Amino acid sequence: MVQAWFMNKDEEGDQREERQCDPPRAVSLEDLKKLGVLYSYVAVDDNGKYREEGGDLHRIKEERGYNYEDTITVAPDKLPGYEEKIKSFFEEHLHTDEEIRFILDGCGYFDVRNKDDEWIRIKVVKGDLLVLPAGIYHRFTTDKTNYICANRLFVGEPVWKPHNRPADEMSARLEYLKALSTWA
Ligand code: LAC
Ligand code: NI
Repeated sequence: MVQAWFMNKDEEGDQREERQCDPPRAVSLEDLKKLGVLYSYVAVDDNGKYREEGGDLHRIKEERGYNYEDTITVAPDKLPGYEEKIKSFFEEHLHTDEEIRFILDGCGYFDVRNKDDEWIRIKVVKGDLLVLPAGIYHRFTTDKTNYICANRLFVGEPVWKPHNRPADEMSARLEYLKALSTWA
């Protein structure tokens, strides 16, 4: 089940640590929703299998029009150019479309900026389906196990291009900020 918290300000620390505040400051799913970040749980068994036809993922795909899906494994021996990629995943960026990840195995952290530009760390594990809205500043890292396997979903032809911050003039950013002001 997904967990989220405000990160401590130690940006020099290991990105793969939890980076909790002292004392910890949890963030609720309700608060994530106000940032446009959506969460669903989809049961996945020990073999990484989940129900296809008639299952929760199927329903979500239909509802949100996700008609593209592939699998990515982020691990030193599985992802070509691992070091470079993990570095670019952790550069603060946005996309012109939603970023949708359904976790099959392993663990990772999606960090998103809230309204006050603070980092919120979202821990995802098996069965977590996370949707980051277009235009939200975010970044990603694995935890200390250096391993996560996830399905990437998309509406239509996938566009993975990250736009590193600052990308404040992009229409995806401006539209996100407009929507954000209505979710408060
Ligand atoms: C991505 C994640 C890592 O853009 O944010 O693929
Ligand atoms: Ni991204």
